[in-house]
Amino acid sequence: MTQTLTLRRPDDWHLHLRDGAVLEAVLPETARDFARAIIMPNLVPPVVTGKDATAYRDRILAALPEGSDFTPLMTLYLTEDTDPADVVTAHQSGLITAVKLYPAGATTNSASGVRNMDKVRPVLESMADHGVPLCMHGEVTDADIDIFDREAVFIDRVLDPLRRALPELKVIMEHITTAQAVGYVKAANKNLAATITTHHLVINRNHLLVGGIRPHYYCLPVAKREEHRQALRAFATSGDKRVFLGTDSAPHVDATKETGCGCAGCFTATNTLSILAHVFEDEGALDQLEAFASLNGAAYYGLHPNAAKITLTRHPDPVSYPEKITCPAGPITVFDPGFPLYWRASGPPSSG
Ligand code: DOR
Ligand code: ZN
Repeated sequence: MTQTLTLRRPDDWHLHLRDGAVLEAVLPETARDFARAIIMPNLVPPVVTGKDATAYRDRILAALPEGSDFTPLMTLYLTEDTDPADVVTAHQSGLITAVKLYPAGATTNSASGVRNMDKVRPVLESMADHGVPLCMHGEVTDADIDIFDREAVFIDRVLDPLRRALPELKVIMEHITTAQAVGYVKAANKNLAATITTHHLVINRNHLLVGGIRPHYYCLPVAKREEHRQALRAFATSGDKRVFLGTDSAPHVDATKETGCGCAGCFTATNTLSILAHVFEDEGALDQLEAFASLNGAAYYGLHPNAAKITLTRHPDPVSYPEKITCPAGPITVFDPGFPLYWRASGPPSSG
């Protein structure tokens, strides 16, 4: 018996598209299944001003496959020199959807990020006043904090004080990886939501390190213990409106991952929906996939859910995806969930 699941077309609330040849190679992988995505601004140099965001949005639109109606939702990279007026103007004009906070040094291309939160207080106050959401990479960067603890420490040292100081600021704690983050988000009564990636629902830190180091499972925040993965799976499949999909699909060409000091990032755009359907089915929660992938994020950002629908089909035999996608800059390895996949989005999205 063929099983199908029809959902409103999903959105990806955290996506890296990069630029140039990589942008052209990876954009169709997301535009195929997703209607919209929050586009990360950590280019080199980063997307800091409204002018930068306009130019980047135009490059993304120019790289879209013919006939695609995918909408990039742009973000600005918060720096200690960000001009509050530029942020508010860019948001009010509809150019940007959110601002992204990277603690300096936390991850790929975060060198221009924030070192001292006091320096960005005026921008954050303006954002709170004008309803501009703040997406955050929630990890401290102190050398004396163990990398596996950096998210939990961020909650205590940065996120909680910020939310107490600016309760009207709408915050998205992105790519959460710990039971502590799940607990913190669930305890919040307003203006806090979280995204969870596809890969953090699948891998724990053993996948990364047991039997040899696996660079394609290295991402930031780094995958944690199994008990944390279980907490993420329970939260993602619960239907709770404060949690939604942000794949953090982060392409790096193989040469920069399979090396002595490899980049962080899992490239999941190609098979994300298949993997999510598998995870939600495993958890007995296929009926919650639409909330996670297609409804909760739009509602939190104050946007309408997509009218178009997408159908996922469960095939009797495993479906296959390319191991790598090709790109003039070099091959990019597609995330391997480590189990066969049976679900696949079938055909072009239907409208209505
Ligand atoms: O794994 C990651 N890759 N985490 C991030 O925060 C950044 C991203 C990237 O840009 O490659
Ligand atoms: Zn990211």
